[in-house]
Amino acid sequence: MRRWCMIVALAGAALGADKKAPPWEKSRYLGQDLYREHCVVCHDIDKKESKKPGPSLYHLFKNEKLPLTGGKPSRDYVVVKVKFGGQLMPPFIKRMTDAEINALVDYIESK
Ligand code: HEC
Repeated sequence: MRRWCMIVALAGAALGADKKAPPWEKSRYLGQDLYREHCVVCHDIDKKESKKPGPSLYHLFKNEKLPLTGGKPSRDYVVVKVKFGGQLMPPFIKRMTDAEINALVDYIESK
């Protein structure tokens, strides 16, 4: 009986731990969270076709050209775009740190 309780307790701990990201995976989840918080309202990232106001960022770094402006995709371009925005896109320079923008661009690059 006692041993059985131990097993249940251990399994419970393991399941609980599973829900929290281990530190080495934090950056990936941080980027995803930031994307959901700031970008997903206007940009899809999981499919090319999109009805949202901004162009889809699907495969942004894997494609030859940027979806709207047609330039070569680069981290620098995306960082500047996120910081300063565009004609319609809002700037995020006051809402994210450089480290956060970096994690966000990592996430976009992984898509
Ligand atoms: C209010 C809607 C809105 C939000 C929020 C927004 N964008 Fe945009 N984004 C746009 C629009 C519209 C454009 C195209 C016109 C422009 O540049 O203003 C654009 C353009 C871009 C481009 C350039 C595409 C190209 O072909 O050059 C990138 C990259 C981009 N957004 C990334 C992001 C990221 C990353 C976030 C989150 C931090 C974000 N956007 C948040 C509306 C938005």
